[in-house]
Amino acid sequence: MRFMSSLSSSIADLRKSYERAELSESASNANPFQQFDQWLQEALRAEVPEPNAMTVATVGGDIRPSTRIVLIKGYDERGIVWYTNYDSRKGQQLAGNPFAALQFHWVELERVVRIEGRVEKVSAEESDAYFASRPLDSRIGAWASPQSQVISGRSVLVANAAKYSAQFLLNPPRPPHWGGFRLVPDRWEFWQGRKSRLHDRLRYTQEGDTWMRERLAP
Ligand SMILES: Cc1cc2nc3c(=O)[nH]c(=O)nc-3n(C[C@H](O)[C@H](O)[C@H](O)COP(=O)(O)O)c2cc1C
Repeated sequence: MRFMSSLSSSIADLRKSYERAELSESASNANPFQQFDQWLQEALRAEVPEPNAMTVATVGGDIRPSTRIVLIKGYDERGIVWYTNYDSRKGQQLAGNPFAALQFHWVELERVVRIEGRVEKVSAEESDAYFASRPLDSRIGAWASPQSQVISGRSVLVANAAKYSAQFLLNPPRPPHWGGFRLVPDRWEFWQGRKSRLHDRLRYTQEGDTWMRERLAP
């Protein structure tokens, strides 16, 4: 295999100094949910690209981790919610092992949030309400795509979409295999890039009803 060796050596030379902001014990929130709320709102205000995109890591029965990107669709003191196909690879992995990790990277703000915990399904009512709020083509898409399964070609999706559009017209119900997951956090980390690689890292771990906040070395 031939790679562009000059390009790969220039990758090794890529370096950025992070100098935009700092994260201190005194200026951060004692509650990680509020700290997350503040940072997500700042990412939205800064109009960073896809501020709502997060990586979800799950671990399968073979003890191998896998990751993919999803969109956060809600959060409150119970946890972080996204929607997907329960029969997908991630859905099957979560059915076998509910522990997962999330990661946001807001590049322009030089910030990362890592969140770990146990995942549960949101209630059927919550999934129904969110499903009903989606555009029609997304609702048909949830029926048309057997997410993570091998298909013989794109035509399968097109044919499925036509079939379900004709079947459900303007009112597709929520597919039984589609809905929300909520990660209930027990560990958070907020990372703020700083100069000279002396980044700020604050980790929150749950201790009974309160959160312990500790600084980690970068
Ligand atoms: C920006 C972005 C947002 C995405 N949002 C979702 C989402 O909210 N839910 C979802 O199931 N897949 C979403 N995807 C697709 C997933 O990354 C992934 O391809 C899919 O969920 C299948 O993953 P799995 O086979 O590991 O289950 C998104 C992809 C991108 C790039």
